[in-house]
Amino acid sequence: MRASLAPYPASRLRRLRRTPALRALAQENSLSVGDLIWPVFLRDGHDLREPIASMPGVARLSLDLVVRAAEEAAALGIPAICLFPYTDPSVKTETCEEAWNPDNLTNRAIRAIKAAVPEIAVMTDVALDPYNANGHDGLVRNGIILNDESVEALVRMARVQADSGADILGPSDMMDGRIGAMRAELERAGHKDVAILSYAAKYASAFYGPFRDAVGASGVLKGDKKTYQMNPANSDEALRLVARDLAEGADMVMVKPGMPYLDICRRVKDAFGAPTYAYQVSGEYAMIRGAALNGWIDGERAMLESLMAFRRAGCDGVLTYFAPEAARAIRAGRV
Ligand code: PBG
Repeated sequence: MRASLAPYPASRLRRLRRTPALRALAQENSLSVGDLIWPVFLRDGHDLREPIASMPGVARLSLDLVVRAAEEAAALGIPAICLFPYTDPSVKTETCEEAWNPDNLTNRAIRAIKAAVPEIAVMTDVALDPYNANGHDGLVRNGIILNDESVEALVRMARVQADSGADILGPSDMMDGRIGAMRAELERAGHKDVAILSYAAKYASAFYGPFRDAVGASGVLKGDKKTYQMNPANSDEALRLVARDLAEGADMVMVKPGMPYLDICRRVKDAFGAPTYAYQVSGEYAMIRGAALNGWIDGERAMLESLMAFRRAGCDGVLTYFAPEAARAIRAGRV
């Protein structure tokens, strides 16, 4: 394994930390713009930028501004943008049919972005929560989340996103069997090159709080998501979920949230060697940004350090609300 260390003073590990040049040579991991996926919030309307109180610096953008954001991302070299819709309460139903409406906000945004900035990869969220009167990712009957009926609905939703031109589908619903069902439908529909980035190990986490504000789901959710999202105490289960999703046809897998679950990132990468991503979720963003705005930490350094941590833990990339800011810092050589 490792060469054993000569005893001090023959070995002085500080030697390679003495100058920036030596530190650069000894650096094990790197962070580049190509590692970033930028999640953005969409809303209806024109020329609207609606700030999200619990995510300072992040706003819901109307479609025209989302297209501008995609252009900005592409110019910075960010390879992918991930769309999350803020849906009007009036379109939320118990049957969630807005989820597979070809003209829903997400599908219109996919088409608009692909028309204006074809080079950027567009990723979507496949889950029913933005459209569900119950706020859940799956269909609910008598308080029970229905797995198989939800999978059928999610497959319909995924199919329409692929028809609209999505490059990467991100099923975040945690129902059983959805990856295989989506993959089969994509093949049937001639979308053989559409990639699936499975939210394979997604935990029932308190760190999603600000996101639920951002998409207008906070007041809507009845109960919690513990019957489908993972127990934060588990880790072997994450490996079983990743194995299952890869076997069903996922191209890439995600661990979510990110920073509290770096151990899971490392285990997943070591066990499967598959393209592995972490989602630095809204609560993680809010903590770093909030502390920085209070002057308690250096926001840019904390951001870059947190992103490097994902690389060190074995991730190929990170979904982060900091993406444009991180891209600018990386391009300026501050990493
Ligand atoms: C829901 C979804 C969630 C996030 C992404 N997709 C929230 C949830 O599961 O309740 C969270 C992202 C974040 O917190 O930044 N399908």
